[in-house]
Amino acid sequence: MNDQPRNLADIRMDYMLAALDEQTAGADPISFFDKWFIEADTSGISEVNAMTLATVGAEGTPHARIVLLKGIDERGFSFFTNYQSHKGNQIDANPNVALLFFWKELERQVRIEGTISKLPPQESDEYFQSRPAGSRLGAWSSPQSRVIETRQVLDANYAQYQQQFADGNIPRPPHWGGYIVSPTRIEFWQGRSSRMHDRILFTRLSDGTWQRSRLAP
Ligand SMILES: Cc1cc2nc3c(=O)[nH]c(=O)nc-3n(C[C@H](O)[C@H](O)[C@H](O)COP(=O)(O)O)c2cc1C
Repeated sequence: MNDQPRNLADIRMDYMLAALDEQTAGADPISFFDKWFIEADTSGISEVNAMTLATVGAEGTPHARIVLLKGIDERGFSFFTNYQSHKGNQIDANPNVALLFFWKELERQVRIEGTISKLPPQESDEYFQSRPAGSRLGAWSSPQSRVIETRQVLDANYAQYQQQFADGNIPRPPHWGGYIVSPTRIEFWQGRSSRMHDRILFTRLSDGTWQRSRLAP
């Protein structure tokens, strides 16, 4: 076995799987995202709904982390989290965010930019109640993004909430819920050979319609 680290400069792929043209992308980027999402899901990609969420805080610096996409509809892209987390505070300071998917098995990237807002409370309640009891207790137990002294702090919180909600009726914590990203730009990237990739960009105009363009790779 060769256990020498590979030279990073030599790691590269040539993308040969598919092409993307204007006709295939169509006129509605949400429908086209649905199509690509179904293709990614049915091609066996694990955690196909994992996406990078980038936020910018009050101090103007960017922050990125993975969250799970839990809904797509004509309003946009939704996920769930702790409203008092670092990302929650950054979103309070600045509603401009970006989402990023990379489905490497399909040689595809989707970049989404837009503005974010909280989902209506009843939608957060509905999703919260669909989660396993352990995850619901976890949402109560974790002061997400805060410094904690030890792992035991979390385990003690969990045990306490297990006792508090011993009857199995676990309501949604007020600090936990959904956000929805209303997109203003959605770019579909399909890897092509020799770095001659296809990039189709949709930009939302002030009348709500989408303008489609092609970007150089
Ligand atoms: C695969 C994966 C999925 C995740 N999904 C979520 C999620 O849906 N919601 C969430 O709050 N954090 C999720 N996380 C954890 C976040 O990446 C992050 O650690 C957490 O939200 C705290 O981020 P913040 O301190 O920037 O607010 C996920 C992490 C991974 C690796």
